[in-house]
Amino acid sequence: MLLCVSSYLGGSLVYGEGIAVGRHNQRTPTPEDTLHLSTANIAEEGDVIFVPVPGAEQLSNEETLRAQIDGQVMTIAKVDNCVFAFQEFCTHRFGPLSEGTFHGFNVQCPWHKSCFDVRTGKVTSGPAKVDLKTFRVETRDGKICVGVPCTAEKS
Ligand code: FES
Repeated sequence: MLLCVSSYLGGSLVYGEGIAVGRHNQRTPTPEDTLHLSTANIAEEGDVIFVPVPGAEQLSNEETLRAQIDGQVMTIAKVDNCVFAFQEFCTHRFGPLSEGTFHGFNVQCPWHKSCFDVRTGKVTSGPAKVDLKTFRVETRDGKICVGVPCTAEKS
């Protein structure tokens, strides 16, 4: 009986909650379905460059795109009819947030269930302790654009 209980508990913690799942402590490669975009040939506006994201206008509510702009991988998500952009990889152990689920304005990491407010990047539920980086989103000439800092490596 004790063996069954401890097996169940261990399975729940590891497979259900993702506790002590060491394979997730490495940065994962950028998935193949990532949009590869660049700030090249786009004018700077102060300290930001606004890059159009193809397909962002067609996003449905709680749908995501994953984009890499000059080395920064980010999730573009539509929530409550607004588009948000935030870093793709969870600050806990690099879970892919574009594959997460949404609860109101929170995105929940698919690996260990940390939650972040997509508007601010703030952690709303652990185990993550570090907030996400967020990016400005604006519509220019009918296209949804993400503002990336000029300090990003140009490609
Ligand atoms: S990788 Fe652990 S909560 Fe996201």
